[in-house]
Amino acid sequence: MPNIETNSSLFQKTTIANINLKNKIFRAATSETAASKFGDVTDKLIHFYEKIAFGKPGLIFTGHMYIEPSGQYAPFQLGITAKNDINKLRELVRTVRSSDVPIVAELSHCGSQSMIKNLKTKAPSVLQNIIYGVQPAEMTEDQIWDVINNFGLSAGIAMEAGFDGIHLHGGNGYLISQFSSPITNKREDKWGGSQENRDRFIVEVYKKVRKTIGYKIFLSARVGIEDSQSDGLSIQEGVERVKKLETLGLDTVEPTYNLMTTYKENIRPFAGITKFISLKSGIFLFDSFRLKSRPEGYYLKLLNELKNYGIKLPRILVGGVRSTDFMKEVLGKKNAEYFALSRPFIREPDLTEKIRTGKIDRVDCVSCNMCFKHEGYHISKCWRKDIISIVQHLVFSFYNKINN
Ligand SMILES: Cc1cc2nc3c(=O)[nH]c(=O)nc-3n(C[C@H](O)[C@H](O)[C@H](O)COP(=O)(O)O)c2cc1C
Ligand code: SF4
Repeated sequence: MPNIETNSSLFQKTTIANINLKNKIFRAATSETAASKFGDVTDKLIHFYEKIAFGKPGLIFTGHMYIEPSGQYAPFQLGITAKNDINKLRELVRTVRSSDVPIVAELSHCGSQSMIKNLKTKAPSVLQNIIYGVQPAEMTEDQIWDVINNFGLSAGIAMEAGFDGIHLHGGNGYLISQFSSPITNKREDKWGGSQENRDRFIVEVYKKVRKTIGYKIFLSARVGIEDSQSDGLSIQEGVERVKKLETLGLDTVEPTYNLMTTYKENIRPFAGITKFISLKSGIFLFDSFRLKSRPEGYYLKLLNELKNYGIKLPRILVGGVRSTDFMKEVLGKKNAEYFALSRPFIREPDLTEKIRTGKIDRVDCVSCNMCFKHEGYHISKCWRKDIISIVQHLVFSFYNKINN
């Protein structure tokens, strides 16, 4: 039986900027597929977050919210533009806060990485998107500044709506990653080419948002610090970029892959479980025959690179974090300061409370990725919890081209 006392390091109180954190287990940014078709908060989205907030994670990062219509990644994604209903955003914040849980808005622009049919996408260079095959237009200098300004405007809307802070989505292949990587950024002006030029977009977005919200408000970022492709962004360059952001006053960093060839490189199947469980779990997947289990906390290497480089920012470990033993060991070795879990909160929205009260020491989620395959189609839920959902999933994946 898990021991509550021995989990106390996970429940130590800390403060970052304006946010008082009651524990170190965060709900990672996870898009909900629950907004209206115009990107507005709906009642079902509020109810979705209410359940997570009841479980009292240290902090909730929202799913990524597009900062302008051309930056929309998926249908029913949340938007945070002047056209979106601020009163519903306020209602969302109020609901989460009534459980005394902080909520931070993740801001994003998808660049060329979009599932939206017929969206006119734009990117640093005219290169087909690696994952979706979408052909973007090259951004003009004016368009680049417009997007930077829109990040600022969205941050301002988030503050008006009462969010506790901002998380920039600077990883996993979206627009900021596309500017960062030498694979997707072939520009020859001041926004491309040298490392300093490819740093410029994230730095300007950071500065704009910081100027809008001020230095006292929590501003953090998911930063892609290495491409999954060997000829892409190097880790050396990635950590130097984080150092730059640290010097400018970033509050926390959550490192991940920058560009990927498939989402599975970031949302890795069967993380932190045994080969036997992964095999047993995989029978519901069409791609189950190439199974192997992945280690827990698979981005630990990236966090260690930051530490070795002398980065002092609090680091959030995301990716395959699955057990209290693992989290305590990582904290003990000072290899991360916080943890962000995504798929486990889909399966068990109340998992932090279950850990706090000693009911579980390992999450139920087996990282089968069935939930991810419904992004943009159905509200986020665990599809392997009951037999009806599993059958519905199989029928759905048979008739639809699904995320991979
Ligand atoms: C359904 C789904 C939606 C996601 N949406 C987002 C998102 O909006 N923003 C983001 O930064 N990451 C998103 N991710 C990635 C997660 O934050 C996380 O990096 C990844 O799932 C690995 O963590 P985990 O092993 O705890 O699931 C999403 C993942 C899933 C499964
Ligand atoms: S479908 Fe359920 S078990 Fe599978 S990854 Fe998603 S939450 Fe975890």
